[in-house]
Amino acid sequence: ARSINLAVIPGDGIGTEVVSQGLKVLRAVLPQEVKLETEEYDLGARRWHATGETLPDSELERLKAHDAILLGAIGDPSVPSGVLERGLLLRLRFAFDHFVNLRPSRLLPNTPTPLAGDPEIDFVVVREGTEGPYVGNGGSLRTGTPAEVATEVSLNTAHGVERVVRDAYERANARPRKKLTLVHKNNVLVYAGHLWKNTFDRVGREYPEVTTDYLHVDAATIFLVNDPARFDVIVTDNLFGDILTDLAAAITGGIGLAASGNINPTGEFPSMFEPVHGSAPDIAGTGKADPTATILSVALLLQHLGLTAEAARVEEAVTADLHERAALGTRTTDEIGDALAVRVSG
Ligand code: IPM
Ligand code: MN
Repeated sequence: ARSINLAVIPGDGIGTEVVSQGLKVLRAVLPQEVKLETEEYDLGARRWHATGETLPDSELERLKAHDAILLGAIGDPSVPSGVLERGLLLRLRFAFDHFVNLRPSRLLPNTPTPLAGDPEIDFVVVREGTEGPYVGNGGSLRTGTPAEVATEVSLNTAHGVERVVRDAYERANARPRKKLTLVHKNNVLVYAGHLWKNTFDRVGREYPEVTTDYLHVDAATIFLVNDPARFDVIVTDNLFGDILTDLAAAITGGIGLAASGNINPTGEFPSMFEPVHGSAPDIAGTGKADPTATILSVALLLQHLGLTAEAARVEEAVTADLHERAALGTRTTDEIGDALAVRVSG
């Protein structure tokens, strides 16, 4: 018998609501012999207001002991912008070396898309998660004056780029279409761009079966709308990946369906699974939040833990549920969670 020791960070806003549905489905899908232990961490806006803490070292230390982390959403209008994002969410991604930020996009049947026709969309974005402009390597001179100068330097290391590019090749190689697209902006960002492109080409020689492609990020946004079928696996830097995955969510049923995994492939630290969406304070407490993105993130978590059959059951349940959504009319967060829990256990 095996057990899963899961850390749960519900966070802010709708985070708590969607996480409880995710856990409901997780409990329903796990076979009897897998023991699930959960520990909830009180992190986010409430904690910050009460203690001024975002993520104390002691909590980070305790989190390390878990097999994985399920996170809802972080951020609240009552907290200055960036405090929780940087101090909690990004701190977790950096401290646990989540260098693969995995964001799959699939247009499931009966899912609304703003795109014309009946596009085929089934790709995964491998977004670098620990470097780029996210590292906080910046500063400001003469702050607040008309002569202010602000910098935000993008950090790209050979080690950091190679490990994420290699991971993306592995993923592309394991998919039927075996196609990998590098997205960057190497006509302008020449230093980082060349490191990425050279690494991409060099590592690619080890994967002769993978077809490769390169796109500038601006062109990639056009193709995502006009010809999304051309994408299989995309590898890109932290900021480009942030932007592209919101666009990817918008064309595949919206942010309510977009799942993600912050993965540490070496297993040195726990990986963390979270919906791509934020805390949506405007609808918090109304029961309007769609828990599907969190539930699909639970599928990624199961996959990561090697519970492949259970992951597939969750995905199948979501697909089946989406089939009936239009006919079912508006349901609450809880009702969608219940329906999916029933489906995975049935
Ligand atoms: C995301 C979010 C975060 C990011 C923010 C909240 C820091 O937009 O997970 O995509 O930029 O990575
Ligand atoms: Mn984002």
